[in-house]
Amino acid sequence: MNEIKIFCPATIANLSCGFDVMGLCLEAIGDEMVIRKSYKNGLQIVKIVGADLPFEIEKNVAGVAAQSLLDAFLIKQKKTVFELDFGFEIEIYKNIKAGSGIGSSSASAAGAVFGLNVLLDFPFTTHELVYFAMQGEVLASGSAHADNVAPCLLGGFTVVRSSEPLDIIEIPSPDLLFATVIHPHIELKTSEMRAVLPSDVSLKKAITQWGNVAGLVAGLFKQDYDLIGRSLTDVIVEPVRSLFIPEFDKLKQIAAANGGLGCGISGSGPSVFVLSKGKETADKIAILFKNHFEKTTYTFDIYVSKIATKGCQII
Ligand code: HSE
Repeated sequence: MNEIKIFCPATIANLSCGFDVMGLCLEAIGDEMVIRKSYKNGLQIVKIVGADLPFEIEKNVAGVAAQSLLDAFLIKQKKTVFELDFGFEIEIYKNIKAGSGIGSSSASAAGAVFGLNVLLDFPFTTHELVYFAMQGEVLASGSAHADNVAPCLLGGFTVVRSSEPLDIIEIPSPDLLFATVIHPHIELKTSEMRAVLPSDVSLKKAITQWGNVAGLVAGLFKQDYDLIGRSLTDVIVEPVRSLFIPEFDKLKQIAAANGGLGCGISGSGPSVFVLSKGKETADKIAILFKNHFEKTTYTFDIYVSKIATKGCQII
């Protein structure tokens, strides 16, 4: 195989209580990438459509992630880049807007390492790819979090039990779970949204938070939708970040009054997500969100998606 086209899904990180550790993969939203072997050594980004992003490998999240995989591959093979008789060309087709909070940079980083791994005949496991994709996150936000890249590569829900050493746990999604996501068109930079967070947490809040994380994980395994809903609570990050998100309290009220299991900030925002049991409820909340936002001055996008069972895929 010399060329592949890949679907790189959008993701929702944090899931309210699980800052930097929990995430899920969306089925209906994502970027595409084409990666092919070329005669030129090393990596080249040759096409970017849908976003104004740098072509230089060291300035592009897909480039940085792909380079870290290629370097590890060469070490494994005991070769230099000039001893490989091929290189790679990367084309990026962005649908996920940068700074939207649904894993735009992660999709590019994950797609790049997924694609290279296929064309190199699978030298690394999918779990090992998470580390390389995280190097793209370092470039994008200055922090090596895996809560977007892990579900983007593995699908379903994921828990980052540990970042060092990396230990990712996969959790299958309950069948009837759907996400509604609204993206108000303001840009919140992850680095800035991390800088506003408190560096210390009281024991009382920590107890509430880890009770909810445990409840969410148990709810997903038991397919207990009410428990999932009760656990989508965040007493640490949401109170600070929600102040930057237009209409956040109103969206939460609408979701709660109309059958949503839980509602929170997607990643570092500004997107807001709701999890619902069944597509009918997810669609209804999407319509109510749309009706509400049309009364404001903000433009926005709304998506409804099942939770994806698979992450990055060849299409
Ligand atoms: N866990 C990260 C954060 C996700 O909330 O800062 C950002 O993509």
